[in-house]
Amino acid sequence: MKLRLGVLISGRGSNLQALIDACRDPDFPAEVALVISNKADAGGLARAAAAGIPSLVLKPKDFADKPAHEAAMTAALEQAGVGLVCLAGFMRLLTGGFVAHWHDRLINIHPSLLPSFPGIDTHARALAAGVRFHGCTVHYVREVMDEGPIIVQAAVPVLTGDTPDDLAARVLVQEHLVYPLAVRLIGEGRVRVEGAVTHIERAVVPAPVISPAPSSL
Ligand code: GRF
Repeated sequence: MKLRLGVLISGRGSNLQALIDACRDPDFPAEVALVISNKADAGGLARAAAAGIPSLVLKPKDFADKPAHEAAMTAALEQAGVGLVCLAGFMRLLTGGFVAHWHDRLINIHPSLLPSFPGIDTHARALAAGVRFHGCTVHYVREVMDEGPIIVQAAVPVLTGDTPDDLAARVLVQEHLVYPLAVRLIGEGRVRVEGAVTHIERAVVPAPVISPAPSSL
């Protein structure tokens, strides 16, 4: 049986799209069962509709408080038989109660090489820090924002003259690769969480990279 995904969004949903596209492969071990948005105008809702995936808009202001909003999300996710919740541009902090309920069944994609640059404006902050690499991280969610065992990361070089938008676009291409990869690894039962870290079975590691490349000497 395939792992059933619940994808939580707030916006354009390009990472949702990457997951939808990956799930089209009959060999992919997961399927998107439900999309939940906290905003009625999230672009990702049209992507879900186009793929024939059920979606729900649950607006926080329609609930008494945050725990009530989250309880409604959990009820809908469980009703849909969701086994893994994927945050994909979901712009709301989750309470410890929600995070504990979905412990090791809740993952997030963040546009930086964590633990560097948690929070917002990661691309501008990476440029200001002068790092030679930036990237993205898929990780299990813990109560502290943008913290939790790392599953997959992708690094991209920072180029002279990059604007935050240039860098964001370069990172986004990788986001669309690593999120499905992380879901595949989980769906294939190859990710083991041990304390603050994960171990990936049969992982193929890439060659080290230097930036600027030694050939520029
Ligand atoms: C992505 O950059 C993701 O890493 C961050 O929010 C953005 C969402 O983009 N958490 P999209 O809605 O998936 O296009």
